This record gives sequence, structure tokens and C-alpha cells, in this order.
Amino acid sequence: MVVLADRSSGWCVLTTEEYKQLSQWLPDDFSNHEASATLEHLWEAGLVTQDGLPHPSSIYRPAPYPTAVLLKLTGACNIECEYCYDYDSKRFKAQQTLEVIQKTLENLLDKQERFSVAFHGGEPLLKFGLMKQVVEWLEPFHSRIGFSVQTNGTKFTQDILDFLEKYEFSVGLSLDGLDEKSNALRKMRHRPTPLQAIESLMIERPDFVRERCGFLAVASKTSAPGLPDFALWLQDFGVKGLSITFLDLIGRGQHLIDERLSPDEAVNVYRNLIDLIRRGAIHELALRNILGRMHNLFTLQSRDLCYRGPCGAASDFLVLDAEGAKRTCDCIYHPYFELDLTDNLENTGQHRSRNAILERHEWLREKGPTCATCPLFGPCGGTCVAKAIAQHGSARNVDPVECALSQYIYPEFFQEFASSPKPLFKYYSFHEDKPFEFVFAA
Ligand SMILES: C[S@@+](CC[C@H](N)C(=O)[O-])C[C@H]1O[C@@H](n2cnc3c(N)ncnc32)[C@H](O)[C@@H]1O
Ligand code: SF4
Ligand code: SF4
Ligand code: SF4
Repeated sequence: MVVLADRSSGWCVLTTEEYKQLSQWLPDDFSNHEASATLEHLWEAGLVTQDGLPHPSSIYRPAPYPTAVLLKLTGACNIECEYCYDYDSKRFKAQQTLEVIQKTLENLLDKQERFSVAFHGGEPLLKFGLMKQVVEWLEPFHSRIGFSVQTNGTKFTQDILDFLEKYEFSVGLSLDGLDEKSNALRKMRHRPTPLQAIESLMIERPDFVRERCGFLAVASKTSAPGLPDFALWLQDFGVKGLSITFLDLIGRGQHLIDERLSPDEAVNVYRNLIDLIRRGAIHELALRNILGRMHNLFTLQSRDLCYRGPCGAASDFLVLDAEGAKRTCDCIYHPYFELDLTDNLENTGQHRSRNAILERHEWLREKGPTCATCPLFGPCGGTCVAKAIAQHGSARNVDPVECALSQYIYPEFFQEFASSPKPLFKYYSFHEDKPFEFVFAA
């Protein structure tokens, strides 16, 4: 039996007998030693309150300033993915300027000690000159900033690769599978295709790919069948990480209804990957979606931007879009995410769009048609608001695919925790770089 907190990701696993004993003790008999030790464990797990207050680490605290900045350098791209959520004919012509970036980051440099800067687009490497200017301008602060770029991988040159190495970039490569069939929605007018470009990179700069690159795949009807082999192929090459995102019907992809996986099909994608982990076939490759959710089990408030409620759009995440506007997330272009107090980045409760994320979270918890009665609300948090809007047109909903994934994966973790062996937990401890015992003690 699993006991779960609803305002944090606190939990504990008990036998039915233990649960019965606990129910008898609660709420008033804590006089004996055994009962008070139990109470202490429940308190540490965020499962009981003291004088009406929960454990301090289980209370949601917004980051005072953004910690993850995403810079859209351009709305343009050299390829035409059929599903591209970011495509819009007006935005396609929009170009970011150094002045707007500097004005935004200057504010943050004064206030926030450490933060990440992700270069994004459109295709960010079409604006490598601007990217270089930004990074060189930030060079004096490099020890405080982690750089990353998300790219289709078709625009690398030796100069760009050397530059990314020099500034210790994390590089996200978008690719949906190991063959052209799986990548059919990533459309290209001219060769090389994204797959060919990335394969060349793997041949010419293998260590760059192994040490610096993680892959991001969009799961659709076209790509899903090949994802397990793709993961194995990446692992064989020595790639460190793969993230999977499920297709949203927005932007250029709004008509691709036949490509969207059903909740059951999406769960099957996870089931197959989890099966590969359990069989030991996937070990060195970090499947970020699975590890991100497992991380929730070892902390009362996850720092992952997305696998928590309220999510990063409530405080940590800041997007500067290609048209110079600020947003709380870029996954869908919707007024819901526009930041109106444009120069003040401090999270003091004045930002309408940040408050909307907090309010949605509370609404889901108290009144959400499915979440209000769902025992998984603590670790799950109601899932991505951008995906809820993309699916239903309103934030007071949940995306059925993300909900089904939570409903599948958390019980899977808890069941494994209560049994033996524990291959998923071993996999987690390997990627957390902590001994198995420590993961359990944490
Ligand atoms: C918009 S692109 C921008 C960066 C770069 N052009 C690239 O492709 O990596 C960022 C990521 O969003 C993914 N993406 C695009 N449209 C999507 C959609 N409709 N649903 C889910 N992911 C999508 C892309 O595959 C890519 O991995
Ligand atoms: S997903 Fe990336 S590569 Fe594909 S069209 Fe959109 S911006 Fe370009
Ligand atoms: S999104 Fe689904 S799994 Fe998550 S809390 Fe709501 S109902 Fe439960
Ligand atoms: S809205 Fe979705 S994608 Fe954006 S930060 Fe929140 S969970 Fe992540």
C-alpha cells in the first residue's frame, strides 16, 4: 500500500498490516517510542502536518528570479518539419537582437547567481553570429551560467563545433529515429537530411556527440515503433541521454491528428522502454523522461522544470521569443504565457501569467475533474499546462496523454519499490551517480 502526499511528492510504502496499525494510532496516540519514530518518518516524508503546517521542504517556494532562460534567436528555420509547433508565417521573419537579449540578461545577472541560457528557435544555428556575440558578452560570468543549444543538427561547421566545445555547451539534437522512415515528419527540401547530417557528425566528431549531445525525439505514429531501437542505437554509440516528447497538435502540426498517439499507445512507448531497462538492455543511456519522474520520488519538491506542479512556468522559466516578448514557456504561443511586467523579472506575485500557473495547480488539486480525487496528484502535479491548452484550448484541463503516462509510471515505480529486484531503482542510482543504498537513504 502506498501513502501519498497531495501537496508534494512525499510518499511511503506500507504493508496492509502496517497501514491498519497506523490508522489505529492516528490521530492521537503517539506516546510510545515506536509510534513517535513512525511519526518522525511520516513528517520527513511530508505526509503529516505539525500545528497545521507541513514539513518546510514540502512547501512550494517560487524561485525569486528565473533560473532557466531560453533565447529564441529567430523564428526562421532551414527545414520544414510537418509538426513544427514554432512555425508561424509572421514569426518566421522575426529576428532577435543583441540589445534586447542584453537588456534582459543584465537584469538577471544583477540578481540571480546561477542560471542556464538555452539558445533556441526556429533554428538557432542560423544565427550563430548572434549566439557568439551573446556568449562572448557573457564570458566574464561563464562560471555562473550553463549554456545549451537545441538544434536540428544540419548547420554545424568545424568553427561552430569548436565554439560549442570551448564554452562547454550541452547540445540537444532533434531526431526522431535511426532511419528516414521514422524521421518522415522532419521534412527537408535539400540534402543532407537531419539524419544524414547527424550521422556525419557522429563519424567526424564522435567524442563531441558522446560527451556533449543529448537527443530529443518527438513521439508520433510515424516515430513510435522505432523508438526502442533508436534508444539502443544511441546507447551503442555512447550517447548519454534521450528525451521523448509527445506530439502536440499546434503550429504547423495542428492538422496532424492522425499522427498523435492515443494515451494507451503513449503508455506503450514507456512500457517498452521500461521493459528494456528491466531486462538490462538499456543501462548507460539516460532516458530523461523516466529519470526525471523517478527523481520526484527522492525529493519533496522536484527541481525538474516540467515534472512537477506547479511547473517551471510558475517561476523558474523565462523565454525571450524571437519577436522580443517575454514568456513563461515556449511550448505553445498563447496569451496565457505572456509576461506583461516586462522589465521586472522578480517573482513577487505580480506576474499574471506566473500566478495563472499557481492558480491552475490549486484548482486542479481542489476541483479538477480527475485530479481532485487522484492519489497521484502530489508527484504528478497535473502535468503540462501548455499541453493541456494545446489539447483542449483551456488550462483548466489535463492532457490525456501526459495523465495516462503519470497513471502508468508512478504505480510502476511504487510496485517495484515494494518488491525485489529493483532494476529501475538501480538504473536511477547509476545515473544519479550514487550508490544504491544512498538512493534509498536519501
Ligand atoms: C521547435 S524546435 C527548435 C530548435 C531546433 N530547430 C530543433 O529542431 O531542435 C524544438 C523541439 O521541438 C520539437 N517539436 C516541434 N514541434 C513539435 C510538436 N508539435 N510537438 C512536440 N514537439 C515538437 C522539435 O522536434 C524539436 O526537438
Ligand atoms: S522543429 Fe526545429 S528544425 Fe523542425 S521546423 Fe521547427 S524549428 Fe525547424
Ligand atoms: S493528471 Fe492524471 S495522473 Fe496526474 S493528478 Fe491529474 S488525474 Fe492524476
Ligand atoms: S508549461 Fe509544460 S513545457 Fe512549459 S514549463 Fe510547464 S510543464 Fe514544462
